[in-house]
Amino acid sequence: MSSFFRDIIRGDNHTREQIETMLSSNGEEKKMLFKAASEIKERYVGKKVYYRGLIEFSNVCGKNCLYCGIRRGNRNLERYNLTDDEIVEAALFAYRNDYGSIALQSGEIESDTFADRVEGLLKRVMEATDNSLGITISLGEQEPAVYRRWREAGARRYLLRIEASDPSLYKRLHPDDGHHLFKRRVESLNTLKELDYQTGTGVMIGLPWQKISHLANDIIFMRDMDIDMCGMGPYIEHADTPLIDETTSLMPLPDRFDLTLKMIAVLRIVMKDINIAAATALQAIDPVGREKGIMVGANIVMPNITPGKYRDSYKLYDNKPCTDDSAEDCKMCLEARLGITNAEIGYGEWGDSLHYKRRKEAIGG
Ligand code: 5AD
Ligand code: SF4
Ligand code: FES
Repeated sequence: MSSFFRDIIRGDNHTREQIETMLSSNGEEKKMLFKAASEIKERYVGKKVYYRGLIEFSNVCGKNCLYCGIRRGNRNLERYNLTDDEIVEAALFAYRNDYGSIALQSGEIESDTFADRVEGLLKRVMEATDNSLGITISLGEQEPAVYRRWREAGARRYLLRIEASDPSLYKRLHPDDGHHLFKRRVESLNTLKELDYQTGTGVMIGLPWQKISHLANDIIFMRDMDIDMCGMGPYIEHADTPLIDETTSLMPLPDRFDLTLKMIAVLRIVMKDINIAAATALQAIDPVGREKGIMVGANIVMPNITPGKYRDSYKLYDNKPCTDDSAEDCKMCLEARLGITNAEIGYGEWGDSLHYKRRKEAIGG
């Protein structure tokens, strides 16, 4: 049995059945899976962990995803919008502390005002930081022209989670209002790639109605899309969302956590040279969740650098960590935490996706 499993891990072009076998592993086999993923990570992308200082600059969102705590329909929270100065200040924190990169994230707004604002902001941040930060943005679905303007203004990476790559599961997780279309999300990802963004996607793990076969297909979706980066984490209920009604059908949190680690490990085995983030949501379940993610294949962490007073209002899910902390707290905390893993922090480096670089070389770009 064991050598059969080892052969699967060592293989390539894994079939859906093989991916399911890896995702279903337990005991000795699971250990083997984690160890293999950790070795592959070290061999292909190295030991370093790269930072993306996360600025959650607004929780105003035009969408109504059924699982998300900041969905438009939730009236139980205060909406905020950082000023441009506050955002630049947060970026300067990352700059001064040698984080190398930042990630700008907010709810999804599609409007000319928003597009203009972000374009201006990107330029300001670039200027204030000597063009030295690698900027990731995660601002949802937008028109290609908007993606293009933001790319030209300085953003080099884009994170747009597919959330669930199965169209019918996607449909069950989103309202049927014409504004949550699976097809448009996939098109957006393709556009981002065409526009030369390092393109990232990801899914939630442990969702209602989700089966192991869905997760195996999520891995295959990412491989087929040939993505450069991935951020995926456990689904965690939020009391003020419609999906809370499905809580009784969910697997227990520790199992969602465990399955997320297996997803990270399997993705590392399948896509060896991409960047994989250890999602903050891991930490909502396990006190050393992100560290465990790093140990099984992740190489990116996103220290929160949002000004402290706003953090409590960016609750996508319950029990979100770091909401009582400052940028400085998270810096010290993470440094200590990563100290216990076998990882070095890639201070001052962009830590771009090697997969992206190879992809470009292959097409002579
Ligand atoms: N649990 C876990 N992750 C969530 N997200 C939104 N709501 C939840 C939740 N309840 C994730 C989505 C989204 C990202 C910003 O946060 O995957 O893309
Ligand atoms: Fe808005 Fe994103 Fe939450 Fe959906 S998941 S409601 S798009 S912030
Ligand atoms: Fe934010 Fe530990 S990383 S408090």
